[in-house]
Amino acid sequence: MTRAIFFTAVCLFCWACNDVSVKQAERPVAEKVYQEPFRPQFHFSPPTSWMNDPNGLVYHDGIYHLFYQYYPDATVWGPMHWGHAISENMVHWQNRPIALYPDGQGFIFSGSAVVDENNTSGFAEGGKVPLVAIYTYHSMQGEKGGRKDFQTQAIAYSLDNGETWTKYEGNPVIGNTAIKDFRDPKVFWHDATQSWIMALVAGDHAKFYRSTNLKEWNHISDFGEEQGAHGGVWECPDLFPLKVAGTDETKWVLIISIGSGGPNGGSGTQYFVGDFDGTTFSSDQQEYKWLDWGTDNYAGVTYNNTPGDRIFIGWMSNWQYAVLTPTSTWRSAMTLPRELSLRKFGDDYMLANYPVAAMDELTVPVEKTDMVLEAAATKEIFHADLNQSDISFTTEGRDFRLTLMNDKGENLKVTFDAASHLVIVDRTESGAVDFQQEFGNKLHYMNVRQLPESDYEVRLWVDASSVELFINKGQFVMTQQIFPTKDYTKMLIENTSDSTIELKDFSISSVGSIWQN
Ligand code: FRU
Repeated sequence: MTRAIFFTAVCLFCWACNDVSVKQAERPVAEKVYQEPFRPQFHFSPPTSWMNDPNGLVYHDGIYHLFYQYYPDATVWGPMHWGHAISENMVHWQNRPIALYPDGQGFIFSGSAVVDENNTSGFAEGGKVPLVAIYTYHSMQGEKGGRKDFQTQAIAYSLDNGETWTKYEGNPVIGNTAIKDFRDPKVFWHDATQSWIMALVAGDHAKFYRSTNLKEWNHISDFGEEQGAHGGVWECPDLFPLKVAGTDETKWVLIISIGSGGPNGGSGTQYFVGDFDGTTFSSDQQEYKWLDWGTDNYAGVTYNNTPGDRIFIGWMSNWQYAVLTPTSTWRSAMTLPRELSLRKFGDDYMLANYPVAAMDELTVPVEKTDMVLEAAATKEIFHADLNQSDISFTTEGRDFRLTLMNDKGENLKVTFDAASHLVIVDRTESGAVDFQQEFGNKLHYMNVRQLPESDYEVRLWVDASSVELFINKGQFVMTQQIFPTKDYTKMLIENTSDSTIELKDFSISSVGSIWQN
């Protein structure tokens, strides 16, 4: 099923799709917002209604902005708006009014935002620096009319740090020449060429454009028709430089989401490591590389304009079942904000992603011990807050299993298997799983062959409806949604090897809620 058909299919669920005019209906109001069953406590989720991709991630004047694909009138996908939240630390978020509404040119699809410090766009007024959003217009009428040119690129600007927006009267800034899937502009300032560069996707490849004023764009190169995974349409590109850890070398990374054909089914996020000379991105990478091996980290991109680190946020869902998950007044959450780093193992570059250090301020250790497990031994730990916890240890062990469970028999298993070099996540009995066939019908695998022969860290962040597993500080990552119908209260640790293993600094921390402070 192509994504265009998918959008149409989803739209059939919702009456409002025929109406592409500005629509500001009453929002459904939840009585106890952020306390409903399955509501994440330390991940961002919208107050009510449907959310998908993070958009316009930009830092300006002490504020991290998180815009996102939002349909305020239902808990399924519909006419897309940009929702908005802000934060000073990426831990605590404050919900803000909707930033961009659909209009006569179409729904507001995914895109990015930049700080136009030098007023290249001319949008500045009274010395106020413009934030400029670059997004895709998706014309539903165009799609339904069987045309191919229904996605175009447009811009809007804000002079009050993201609170209110004005759409540019000259939109679209990039028209369409009959490319059906032509969307998700990610723009950044490229110092060496003193110009703005845009990464855009066009079906099975990425296109790059250049501009000096954000209004006029020239196509400069293409990448990827013959490279990488192509199990689904390419979406949500992001191109940025990263220093290789511990060296002076800088490489460029291109992130691409694919709507199907991910490592464990459905949506997934791949990346390429290569070089960008100001015009062309090239990479001699042969194999597929996945930023996350779990099923639920999609459409992720990085912040523009942060003072230091390269920070990534993804949408914690999968198009296979996103509209069917068993939540009530809202749907879906974002991953934890994660710092990206590029690490070299032998000749191989790997993109690691690991929660930002600021998350640690929410954690309160309740259990800390050095644990020794004899061959084939099992240890049980009881802990009331496992569904809001951060569990970590370091080990040389390669054969063991961690199980989180509740007294209803629901459980989540994470198995480390040395012989196959696999880490296997089993959510088949993790709680509510039967809302859609693919969700709970198979194991999820991650190949950890490149794990160094030494102690490595295992860290598991468990929230009400998600589990994020980070191995060796984000060298290997799996993000999954789970829907336990009662809190997990017991953890089993099984040594499945025939020798003693040590779990050093084993700790369970309770993680506070970001919505009660
Ligand atoms: C990715 C995506 C984007 C598109 C948006 C529409 O999940 O399909 O390609 O812009 O969602 O909501």
